[in-house]
Amino acid sequence: MDLTTAKTRVAELHNILNQYNYEYHVLDNPSVPDAEYDQRLHELIDLEEQYPELKAPDSPTERVGGAVLDAFQKVEHQTPMLSLGNAFNEADLLDFDRKVRQAIGENYSYVCELKIDGLAVSLMYEAGLFVRGATRGDGTIGEDITANLKTIKSIPLRIKQPLTFEVRGEAFMPKKSFENLNIARAEREEDLFANPRNAAAGSLRQLDPRIAASRNLDVFLYGIADLGGTGVVAHSEGLDLLDELGFKTNKERRTCANIEEVIQYVNGWTEKRPHLPYEIDGIVIKVNSLAQQEELGMTAKSPRWAIAYKFPAEEVVTKLLDIELSVGRTGVITPTAILEPVRVAGTTVSRASLHNEDLIRDKDIKIGDYVVVKKAGDIIPKVVNVLVERRTGEEQDFKMPTHCPECESELVRLEGEVALRCINPKCPAQIREGLIHFVARTAMNIDGCGEKVITQLFQESLVQDVADLYKLTKEQLLGLERMGEKSATKLLAAIEASKENSLERLLFGIGIRHVGAKAAKTLAQQFETMDALAKASFDDIKDINEIGEKMADSVVTFFEQPEVAELLEELRSFGVNMTYKGPKLVTAEDSDSYFAGKTVVLTGKLEVLTRNEAKEKLEAKGAKVAGSVSKKTHLVVAGADAGSKLAKAQELGVEVWDEEKLIEELNK
Ligand code: IVH
Repeated sequence: MDLTTAKTRVAELHNILNQYNYEYHVLDNPSVPDAEYDQRLHELIDLEEQYPELKAPDSPTERVGGAVLDAFQKVEHQTPMLSLGNAFNEADLLDFDRKVRQAIGENYSYVCELKIDGLAVSLMYEAGLFVRGATRGDGTIGEDITANLKTIKSIPLRIKQPLTFEVRGEAFMPKKSFENLNIARAEREEDLFANPRNAAAGSLRQLDPRIAASRNLDVFLYGIADLGGTGVVAHSEGLDLLDELGFKTNKERRTCANIEEVIQYVNGWTEKRPHLPYEIDGIVIKVNSLAQQEELGMTAKSPRWAIAYKFPAEEVVTKLLDIELSVGRTGVITPTAILEPVRVAGTTVSRASLHNEDLIRDKDIKIGDYVVVKKAGDIIPKVVNVLVERRTGEEQDFKMPTHCPECESELVRLEGEVALRCINPKCPAQIREGLIHFVARTAMNIDGCGEKVITQLFQESLVQDVADLYKLTKEQLLGLERMGEKSATKLLAAIEASKENSLERLLFGIGIRHVGAKAAKTLAQQFETMDALAKASFDDIKDINEIGEKMADSVVTFFEQPEVAELLEELRSFGVNMTYKGPKLVTAEDSDSYFAGKTVVLTGKLEVLTRNEAKEKLEAKGAKVAGSVSKKTHLVVAGADAGSKLAKAQELGVEVWDEEKLIEELNK
């Protein structure tokens, strides 16, 4: 095919595919079978490969996910992305309505919309072409996630009029996609997402757009950033305009003449909510007329013309079948309620932590009770209370054991603690939990080594302490249940790679009492090597900012143990790194640096350094690198095409450098 013919065909395919896409993903009404779409898409992919110059920015092939990014660029929202005030009951809604009426009189109407439980996104169109998509961030500065958003098929890459404007909506993961994703993740022994919102946010925060493309995300648009610019006079007209332009809006919206109708709508959806194919967490109520919205204005944080009604956390009743005990990494015994599986707020719940003996006593929980369960913060299942009236007399009292359920040594209650503990350092449960902690993503980050693999390695006596991980052979791994050649190779590579981790991961991983991930980072940054930390005195450690006496004491006691010295020696002999590799602290020498203590903002395209490199170098010299310009900014480094941040710096009289000057000063 020659270029001219190819050009015509590409344009044709382009239009056909965009139309199919619109019918399928926006109208929910496909006109052709999937196979036909796929066939034409492949034809287009082939043509674009042959003639790269024919690839348009709104080509349907963009949907499959483009190049992997290093980092997300920051985006400043021209109109801030506001949040809404909340209403939790009818009284709050009546109160909102009273304030509206006081401000604008009796003649108004509301638009009620489902409050989609996903994450807010902003989409910029220039002359009808989708040019940039961003997260909300803190409302002023978000992240550029254009490549990921292009993979959402209901987002039009070109709209039906050549408009330049910004639209906003909620990206989300449908319930069914969420369930399938978690099933697949469970099979691969990957961490599960707690709910569809986290899954959607996690997918859009991936630097590799192919991941977002594989996740079946969707979007509902709910507004135009600057509605006044479009000529419409009411919010409902804005939504209709979005429909006409080819966007996907939610069709359950209603115009309500008064607050009584709003309350009816709210009550109706409280009932119908479980049957929707996506999660909602409330109803958004907006005054319809734009003129009236303007009259009502804003408070410091949110508009006075809208409010979000939040559904109460869903509560369900189920039977408490048993109470199981587990021994944690530090020996704490935790009772867990085993529940008859029940669906709450989108997922099936079969266990809930009961934390400790006191809680069981205070709530008067017995085995066999019917209990009310909800998800705290909509994520962690929690037993709210017991339905005493449903007792039959068959229920059994629960008593905490006197001895460890794993190693049978006597349990103790340390002074000032509610928890019962096993203090046997050789307790197998503690060792196993310690291993699980060591390989975790936040610690040594050994991929492919989940709880199940560790439990098997431990049971087969292949791994007794963390050093044993570094002795594993492929033959040993292949002997484990459900461990194939590929997984074994991958796991060994991950173990090998973990040797290169910076010190703080090892420090956190070996599990020093009271030392969390953040403290581990501080200690690593301060002492730089394991040896230096091991030799440090109580006072040396305590004097560090953010480190208290309890932690200092625990660190010193930890390194005093001869077994610890032995273990570290062994790890060292396997080549496990014990030095800090992150950005250095400002030392006396660096504090002479021009940058020490200064706040610097990077903007525009840098030519020599990447953003990240510039940031790391600046931080190493003691600067704080911020995302936005304010009176507190000392210096703005502006690369090519710098926009609003540069303008702001000039307005505030902040010093502005180019990249060359930056590099020169960094090299001093
Ligand atoms: S309107 C100024 N409408 O809920 C008005 N928000 O605090 C801006 N949300 O993060 C929001 N569905 O992302 C609006 N139909 C809807 C919504 C909705 C979900 C989210 C939004 C924002 C939060 C409101």
